[in-house]
Amino acid sequence: MKDTYILGIESSCDETSVSIVKNGNEEIATVISSQIDIHKSFGGVVPEIASRNHVKNITLVLEECLDKANMTMEDIDAIAITYGPGLIGSLLIGLEAAKTLAFIHNKPLIPVHHIAGHIYANSLVKELTFPLLAVVVSGGHTELIEMTDHYKFNKLGGTLDDAVGECYDKVARVINLEYPGGPKLDKLAHIGKPTYKLPVPLKDDSYNFSFSGLKSAVINLAHNEEQRGNELNKENLAASFQKVAIESIINKVRKAVIDKNIKTVIVAGGVAANQGLREEMEKLKDELGFDLSIPPMKYCTDNGTMIAAAGYYAYKLGRTADYYLNSVSSEKLN
Ligand code: KG4
Ligand code: ZN
Repeated sequence: MKDTYILGIESSCDETSVSIVKNGNEEIATVISSQIDIHKSFGGVVPEIASRNHVKNITLVLEECLDKANMTMEDIDAIAITYGPGLIGSLLIGLEAAKTLAFIHNKPLIPVHHIAGHIYANSLVKELTFPLLAVVVSGGHTELIEMTDHYKFNKLGGTLDDAVGECYDKVARVINLEYPGGPKLDKLAHIGKPTYKLPVPLKDDSYNFSFSGLKSAVINLAHNEEQRGNELNKENLAASFQKVAIESIINKVRKAVIDKNIKTVIVAGGVAANQGLREEMEKLKDELGFDLSIPPMKYCTDNGTMIAAAGYYAYKLGRTADYYLNSVSSEKLN
């Protein structure tokens, strides 16, 4: 059977990334240009600056990726593009590049939902088997999704307020960690002990999450300690926060696996890089006996590889778009 090469473009936030993936599971070449250093001094991503930098980077990243793969656009079967959700200005740069390439080289254009990309990062590790439970944990999403087949998503529950990654970043700011704070907080948590008492949010019967109360509890705790003249132990606060944040995710995953008799669980999104979450998911796997897939670190945070992988399965299903395709800042997973 002829091999299928998908070129994936991701520009939904502050990474400009292009990747070529063969048959949905083999990474041929990937280039990621990160803007972290540019946004660091602002304490977070500045949308206008992000989109301007995507404009500067996109052509260079595309050329470098083709060079790395030793391929030309003639070798590519289809172009997959993150059309949303994300920062609208950033998304538009990738989308216009994808449309232009598709038009000039007469290739199909495949729209990919950013979260589908995170989920399909797992297909670069092993073939997805259905039904499965996807634990989506990123800077913008915290959701439990049941998948009965490729592109058949059934949302069981999600966050009622902040996403877990967003909460990590906000708590990291309280203890003066540089953007992006999530990975730095994770490292500190492994040095500290969970000595501070924080409430486990939303201990209810739903599959939903809530992180804004936990974030406020950390902020209040920090203020109270300051007012009492006590020095905050950052490592212990990080460990205390991480324990509770992860426990709240694990509790709901356990419930979903038992209720729905789930045999396969995959983890997706930037927070899948979290060491504490990875360890607790492994423990839950041993406790309940399901198959677990967590992508390697390089596929956890935003990249074009996951978009190309997701694009391959979309292409096989004939999910192509015309040139009226537009970017959307928020959109239900589909
Ligand atoms: O998936 P992603 O790259 O972007 C979105 O689609 O949102 O996720 C980025 C989020 C950020 O909030 C970042 O702080 C968080 O993932 N993150 C982590 C870790 N690595 C990345 N959070 C906790 N622990 C980590 N090791
Ligand atoms: Zn993402």
